[in-house]
Amino acid sequence: MQAFPNAETRLLGVVGHPISHSLSPAFWNPALRQANENAVFLAFDVEPASFTDFINGMRTAGACGFNVTVPHKLAAFELATERTFVADQTGAVNVLVFREGGVLGSNTDVHGVKEAVGELEVEATNALVLGAGGAGRAAVHALTELGIEVTVTNRTANKARELSERTVDWDARHDATVDFDLLVNATSVGLDGRGSVLDQAAFEKAGKLQAVLDVVYRPDETPLVHAARAAGLKAADGLAMLVHQAGAAYELLLNAKPQLERLREYAWQYAGRPPEPKDYRGPKPLI
Ligand code: ATR
Repeated sequence: MQAFPNAETRLLGVVGHPISHSLSPAFWNPALRQANENAVFLAFDVEPASFTDFINGMRTAGACGFNVTVPHKLAAFELATERTFVADQTGAVNVLVFREGGVLGSNTDVHGVKEAVGELEVEATNALVLGAGGAGRAAVHALTELGIEVTVTNRTANKARELSERTVDWDARHDATVDFDLLVNATSVGLDGRGSVLDQAAFEKAGKLQAVLDVVYRPDETPLVHAARAAGLKAADGLAMLVHQAGAAYELLLNAKPQLERLREYAWQYAGRPPEPKDYRGPKPLI
């Protein structure tokens, strides 16, 4: 029997700051074992000032590449020596694949948002995106590709204006919800389980709003998902999006098809959630 890990074991992982909340190692590793991949997936907490050194060092060390999360997605875009079309379109990179002679930057968050919106089964013609960082850019791109008209609001207004010609003042977001079918939180607010970009009162106003997608996930409900559900709306947190983006990242990093159902099952399990009913919509084939 071969030892594991061994001298041939490949390294991949996720890099962010903070990273201790990440579920990715918990569901990637059992999925890698299940697929008999000789690889490990680890999480690295790296401050912005050290990000480039970290990536260059890991590349020299022979790692396969990394998922990239808050706050490095824009730095990863700059660092990539070649980029996929989607990464170029969004201006943000959440997967770096180390290749001979360069680093490929991709954006699998776009795929994740599209799948997560699809699972909400909402007939949306327009959407309000809160946030204009890496996740906000991915959300805007994904929704636009789905044929949904997007308006952006962001605490720092000029970043919203850079991203979309349709914007709403950050302070007006509570009243604006009534004008949209779908709301997507792409800020990091709620990650610590405290605070919400909108409270229940914003969801209880009579209007068009049908559903809420929060890119943030926690073991329990995020404050935003809780408020939306309490007001009778459909709502999902970022766990399904995380799994779908991970599936696309798996293909890029390992050049192999992931077992998406396993990734999803393990993500749910390690998030401490009851297994999903077998008839949930998806997973669909990737690419
Ligand atoms: P990511 O890659 O996950 O999008 P990011 O690029 O650091 O991370 O972007 C974080 C987003 O969350 C930004 O839109 C940020 O707003 P600013 O552009 O004004 O910084 C938003 N954000 C973070 N903390 C926030 C807070 N307390 N209130 C409102 N927005 C916040």
